[in-house]
Amino acid sequence: MLKATAIAPANIAFIKYWGQKDKDINLPFNNSISMNLDKCLTTTTVEFSKDITKDVVMVNNKTLSDNDSLRVIKQLDTLRKLDKINFKAQVVSINSFPSDAGIASSASSFAALALAGAKALGVKIKINELSCLARLGSGSACRSIPDGFGEWHKGKNHTSSYARSLYRPDWWDLTDIVVIVSNEKKKYSSLSGHASAESSPYFINRLKQLPRRISQVKKALKEKNLPLLGETIEEEAIDLHVIAMTSKPPIFYWNGTTMEIIKQLKNWRSSGLLAYFTIDAGPNLHIICEQKQEKIINKKLKDFPGVIKTIINHPGKGARII
Ligand code: PMV
Repeated sequence: MLKATAIAPANIAFIKYWGQKDKDINLPFNNSISMNLDKCLTTTTVEFSKDITKDVVMVNNKTLSDNDSLRVIKQLDTLRKLDKINFKAQVVSINSFPSDAGIASSASSFAALALAGAKALGVKIKINELSCLARLGSGSACRSIPDGFGEWHKGKNHTSSYARSLYRPDWWDLTDIVVIVSNEKKKYSSLSGHASAESSPYFINRLKQLPRRISQVKKALKEKNLPLLGETIEEEAIDLHVIAMTSKPPIFYWNGTTMEIIKQLKNWRSSGLLAYFTIDAGPNLHIICEQKQEKIINKKLKDFPGVIKTIINHPGKGARII
C-alpha cells in the first residue's frame, strides 16, 4: 500500500525569509534561522492509489476546494515525478493548534506532506533533499524538516537551497509563547508580502544588515545569550514590518494589542523579566523567554487586555514518520 503518515512542527524565524529571488521555486534572498515549535504540529497522511480518481485534500476534517488544493496538488505532482507514477492521492491533514488561531500552518503542513508523500511512494531521499522538497510547497517549510534550531541556506538553485540543523532541541531551554491577539483570517498572505517586499525602499537596507544580524543570532545561540538573541530578533521583526508597511501596496499586519504588548515588554524587562518579541506575517506575537520565567510571563500575557489565548512552545524535533 502506498500510504504513510508524518508529523512536522511549525517554526518561528529569528532571522526571517521575506521576499523571493525565484518565486517559482521559493528561493530566498537571504539565509534564515529558526526554532521548531513542539506544540504547533501538523499530522498528515498521504495515500496514492490507482483506485483514487481525483486528488482530494482534507484539512481538519474539511475537504478543501479545488482552488485551495492547488499548492498541495502541485506538491503531489512533484512527488509523482520522483517515482514516475500517475496515481491520484488522498491527503488528510490535522493541525494540533486551532486553524482559526492565526498561526501559519503552511510550514508544518508542507513539511509533513513532503515527508509522508516521499515515504508513501518509498522514494529514497536524503534529509537535505526532503528540505528542498518541502521548500517548494512553502519556503519556510524547509526549516521544519531538521531538528531543533535550523538555518536555511539560501543556495543558488533548487538543490542547494535547504535547511540544516544548528542545534538539537535540548540545546537551550527557550520558550516561545505564541500570543493570539486576533483569530481573523489574514487579509494578506505571506505570499503577497513576499511579492511586494522589493517595492519597499527599505528592502535593500535590511539585506545590508543581515550578515551582522545572522552572526549575532548564531553567537547568541552558541552562548545561550538571551539579551543578544532578543535584541537581534526584535530589530529583525521590526524591519520586516517596516518593509511590509512601506511596500506598494502597503501591508499592515499588526493590531492595537500587538503594539501595546511590544511597548509593555520593555517595562517587564526593566523589572527583570527577560522577554522579547518577534512577529511573522500577522498580528500575533511570539514571545521568546527562558523556561525558568515562562510561567510568570505567560500569566501576564494571558491577563493582558485583547489577548485571546497563548500557546507555550519549547524547541521541537523536525519532521518524522509515525
Ligand atoms: O513560507 P512562507 O511563504 O509562508 O513565508 C514565511 C514568512 C515569514 O513567516 C514572515 C518569515 C519566516 O521566515 O518564517
